Amino acid sequence: MNVVVIGSGLAGLTSAIKASDLGANVTLISPTFSESSQSVMAMGGINVALNTKGENDSVDKHYQDTINSGCEINDSKSVLKLTYDASKIVKWLENIGVSFTRDDGNIDLRYFGGQKFARTAYAGARTGKQIVTAITALCRKKEAEDKVKRYVGWRFLSLILDNNQCLGVICINEDTQEIKAFTGSVILASGGLNKLFGKTSGSVLNDGYVTAKALIQGVRLANLEMIQYHPTTVKTPSKRMLITEAARGEGGNLYVNQNGEKYYFMKEWYPEMAELMPRDVVSRSIYKASRGGKNQVYLDISHLSEDTVKIKLDEVYEVCTRYLNIDPTCDAIPVYPGVHYFMGGIKTDENHKTNIEGLFAAGECSCQYHGANRLGGNSLLGAIHGGYIAAQNVVLEEYFNPDVVFNSLKNQIDSFNSWKDSFDGELLSTIEDKLANIMNTSMGIYRNETELYGALKQLDTLNCDVNTNSSYYDYVKIKNLTTLARACILSAIERKESRGAHQREEYLQTKEEYRKITCIDYDGEIKISFEELDE
Ligand code: FUM
Repeated sequence: MNVVVIGSGLAGLTSAIKASDLGANVTLISPTFSESSQSVMAMGGINVALNTKGENDSVDKHYQDTINSGCEINDSKSVLKLTYDASKIVKWLENIGVSFTRDDGNIDLRYFGGQKFARTAYAGARTGKQIVTAITALCRKKEAEDKVKRYVGWRFLSLILDNNQCLGVICINEDTQEIKAFTGSVILASGGLNKLFGKTSGSVLNDGYVTAKALIQGVRLANLEMIQYHPTTVKTPSKRMLITEAARGEGGNLYVNQNGEKYYFMKEWYPEMAELMPRDVVSRSIYKASRGGKNQVYLDISHLSEDTVKIKLDEVYEVCTRYLNIDPTCDAIPVYPGVHYFMGGIKTDENHKTNIEGLFAAGECSCQYHGANRLGGNSLLGAIHGGYIAAQNVVLEEYFNPDVVFNSLKNQIDSFNSWKDSFDGELLSTIEDKLANIMNTSMGIYRNETELYGALKQLDTLNCDVNTNSSYYDYVKIKNLTTLARACILSAIERKESRGAHQREEYLQTKEEYRKITCIDYDGEIKISFEELDE
């Protein structure tokens, strides 16, 4: 059978390798090489309850912390599998050559937010890079054996659908503008929705177009209002960069200057967990302590040993010295929350199936593990686990029917070819900046109805015609992204409570009646509904 994987970060790579192991012919399509995927940016580590520190940690406790941090709208069956499989995944990573930092011969574990146990395995502060390198090497082997065929520099344009069944994808080569169909069952592993917000801690290559187009083609999305602000990011000219949560896990302190003194607000407000409260809580606290960004908040790691800063937090040291001209062994780091992760996305069940036959999703573009707020250290885990489970199920459930494809395909490709030079509008970057401004203003750490409705109005008047200097991909992308932006805002409007990453100024309480999944469908217009969770 044919399996087409869109995206070659950790979820895509793992899907491709596993599907090939199970006998599928795999096509792996991505705009860039795996080495430049967003997965390499993950610094801090991967959660696994190994209990090598003798703290009585367990899979049950990892499960419970994940659900608590997600404010109980995670898919519990998926979280059960995720946390149960974590030790197998870390063992596998070790076997394929990931050199985790060790302590007394064991994989070392460190503290991360929202967890009372040292549970995060790591490789310095370059965990994502190490893991991507090892899994990419495995994938290369498959490529050499002709079991995985890679298309780098290609962008997804559209699903090929017939009667609620996915038969493949249509893609475009960004250099040559060639448009081509790839047939087979499909796994989407296209990452988060970063372009909606402009400067995030993630990769702009993960622009959200795949999710946007999937919605418009009838794929159900979920929980789009759940957008994670990482508490400690720094501003650089091109993007926000992460100062890993591990810096707080290793003992870093947050403070603001107040009346000539350092005020350690997390220690004061949350004495038990302090800087290691879940991310949503820390981000809100920074917002409050800084009076909405008016006073600078600092992360201080200067009291940690030089080895801790330069070895265990190597990438923090590099970001500070290279981009901020700060030496974190002596100077505090100015930080502020930044958009980091999208808990919502394509709605998938515990087998990573979508509502369309033959279509699966894994990694950040899918939604079931993290609920209203993801635990740090669960994203690398979720990406690898999701890729593995999606591949297992795509192969088990062989849907592909080539006859139907070839009948329906020609028309779709013809319609893509008919756009040429039929528009004359604004610079793409101008439209993208306007879109990001609308989203950053209305979908911040706190939201309110006036700004959310104002944002919908602004989207109505946003001119999405890009000028002729743009590529066809840019042209279709921006139109679809505005629909996705609208879907995020409508989700935020309809959830009339505060839960995890979604905080409404008018509804500051969490309400039991909203302990549900927000579902987003499209049938010419966006429809929002709430679905009960499987208990
Ligand atoms: O802070 C961090 O290192 C981020 C990790 C994550 O998002 O899982």
